[in-house]
Amino acid sequence: MTDRFRLDGQVAVVTGGSGGIGSAGALALAEAGADIALVGRNRGKLDAAAQAVEAVGRRALVVRAEVTDEAALNAAAAEIEAKLGPADILFNNAGITSPKLLADLPLEEWRRVIDVNLTGAYLCTRAFAPGMQARKRGRIINMGSILSGRGMATRTAYSASKAGLANLGAALCFELGPHGITVNTIGATVIVTDLNRELVRTQPELYGEVVRRTALGRLGEVQDVTAVLVFLASPAAGFITGQTVYVDGGYTAG
Ligand SMILES: NC(=O)c1ccc[n+]([C@@H]2O[C@H](COP(=O)([O-])OP(=O)(O)OC[C@H]3O[C@@H](n4cnc5c(N)ncnc54)[C@H](OP(=O)(O)O)[C@@H]3O)[C@@H](O)[C@H]2O)c1
Repeated sequence: MTDRFRLDGQVAVVTGGSGGIGSAGALALAEAGADIALVGRNRGKLDAAAQAVEAVGRRALVVRAEVTDEAALNAAAAEIEAKLGPADILFNNAGITSPKLLADLPLEEWRRVIDVNLTGAYLCTRAFAPGMQARKRGRIINMGSILSGRGMATRTAYSASKAGLANLGAALCFELGPHGITVNTIGATVIVTDLNRELVRTQPELYGEVVRRTALGRLGEVQDVTAVLVFLASPAAGFITGQTVYVDGGYTAG
């Protein structure tokens, strides 16, 4: 039974592999047996994430690419296939936010958030899904948010992008399901990473309301997300597709 949760012999592509959730996700997928291609822009952070993957005995490949650059992603897919093998798992995790009120949110910033968070996932899926279709197997996991299903003031562009991401998955599951590919979205609450840990500690009023509305009474940790990521990537989750799986301590249950 435990074999059904393993990813041995598989290749996983993690976009935003240089970030807090991406690097932790890459390591978790590697610990489950997958070789990892880390896609992002920050060379130093990508290299550090690659070293962590190699430290658990898996192969790692760093590919510097913008998720908004179609040509770069197609080149990345070819390079990954040549060096690691064809991708079995795609974690569409790269993302940015722009916490502003509508009046302060310029069009170019709106476009950038939608471009990276939503169009980026579309482009990555276009780059990697054909190979999965040809081999009749694949797992696509989008990094959504509790804001994939609800809104929050000052998160206009982010909420729109993350809702779009969830529905991109819901639409694609019908197209890709017959080819043995599942597409799901992780709807995460605030996840404490190195980037926001200090902010969470020093600005309790900002995060206290989220904690207060959370059944389990705390913010998320990266391990809360990576456990679900590995599960959705695994053979055990083969009958789950088109879903947004909330990892939020019950926040969206209210
Ligand atoms: N932390 C949370 O509370 C939370 C909650 C729910 C959902 N999420 C989502 O989880 C994902 C990861 O967030 P995080 O907390 O780990 O943030 P993070 O540490 O800032 O990571 C973001 C990642 O996205 C990459 N990225 C951004 N723009 C890119 C672009 N144009 N092309 C390629 N890569 C790009 C960054 O890569 P480079 O630095 O190399 O450019 C970085 O690796 C995001 O989609 C975020 O919306 C986070």
